[in-house]
Amino acid sequence: MNSEDIKQGEASALCRTYARYPLAVSRAEGTRLFTPEGRVYTDLLAGIAVCNLGHSHPELVEVICAQAKKLVHVSNLFYQEEQVALATRLLGTSHLKRVFFCNSGAEANEGAIKLARRYMREGRGEERFEIITLSGSFHGRTLATLTATGQDKIKTGFGPLPEGFITVPFADLEAMKAAMNERTAAVLIEMIQGEGGVKPLPQEYVRGLAALCAEKGVLLIIDEIQTGVGRTGKFWAHQHLGLVPDIVTVAKGLAGGLPMGAVMCSEEVSKGFPPGSHGTTFGGNALISAVADKVIEIIERDDLCGRAARMGDWLRGRLEGIKSRLPEQIAEVRVHGLMIGIELTHPGAEVWKALLERGFVLNLTQDTVLRLLPPLVITEEELEAFCRALESVLAGK
Ligand SMILES: Cc1ncc(COP(=O)(O)O)c(C=O)c1O
Repeated sequence: MNSEDIKQGEASALCRTYARYPLAVSRAEGTRLFTPEGRVYTDLLAGIAVCNLGHSHPELVEVICAQAKKLVHVSNLFYQEEQVALATRLLGTSHLKRVFFCNSGAEANEGAIKLARRYMREGRGEERFEIITLSGSFHGRTLATLTATGQDKIKTGFGPLPEGFITVPFADLEAMKAAMNERTAAVLIEMIQGEGGVKPLPQEYVRGLAALCAEKGVLLIIDEIQTGVGRTGKFWAHQHLGLVPDIVTVAKGLAGGLPMGAVMCSEEVSKGFPPGSHGTTFGGNALISAVADKVIEIIERDDLCGRAARMGDWLRGRLEGIKSRLPEQIAEVRVHGLMIGIELTHPGAEVWKALLERGFVLNLTQDTVLRLLPPLVITEEELEAFCRALESVLAGK
């Protein structure tokens, strides 16, 4: 099919949920996307922070083929070596001790919410069920996670929404303190709000919040669905501050493009998931677990976290240079490893479109923020080519 056939076919058959980019992708390799007509794009989005090793990584292709011949799926009624290997490797990146595998980010957060509520009942014998989240956050599209999400547009038309969620202003510790009471089970935060425009929480806020949670006996859940798996220059973004959250959720980059999520928790909090309390048919099947295991092995072996940090440092300097030359165009540059937000002083749709026309795939979020989440294997040359294109578009050349 050519691009036009695909667009027309979609128009008559798929639900109209997505505002698609004007682009069909039929093949991808490394950091390149190819249209059916053979046009090539540099991928600065990695399937929204998913394909961290780039597309069609030869070692992942090999594992997919070998595992497909051995065992793809048998369900969670059975013990599986691949899950154990992955769990061991994943937990080795963290201070947390147990993991539950699922299929997406929303499902990981949904699981974390269930775990926090049930832990309070089973482990602490308390009727605490409220989850506090921050304005501007994004936690998913299931009913519980869209209720947890601090953006009204995500909730429109889906009421009545589940009870027990409170949203407080971003980075306001006093507001958080005021919202906590004897009903509070957990606080759910992103270290850097991704969909919210690459907005990091200030360090002193996060430290204060962690201390407050410890003082009040409230669980701290960190949503690392976008920031995890090396994206920000450490395996987990909360490790930059040496935090020890009770629960961490992950998805996106975990299985290199196959759908997988996970809820990681402390030994103590895992008491909230006694046998039979939670489950999923596909979560952690043999194929996906084998691939995720290889993803983490490669990230560690090739020091892709360190690479993300170094590339981010280089890019920050380059983007700050552009900002200083074009202060009327760029309001702020936010670079955290390879999670990058370039906040424009004006709506960015035209800039985004011009960059796409020049062959760069990136994202526009919150109307004014150009967001880059490139594969962790992106090269300096590719980022340099993007910087040149950005400066020329912003300068109107
Ligand atoms: C921080 C965060 N949490 C949760 C989600 C939801 O993940 P999924 O789309 O896999 O359900 C996303 C997706 O963008 C995210 O960025």
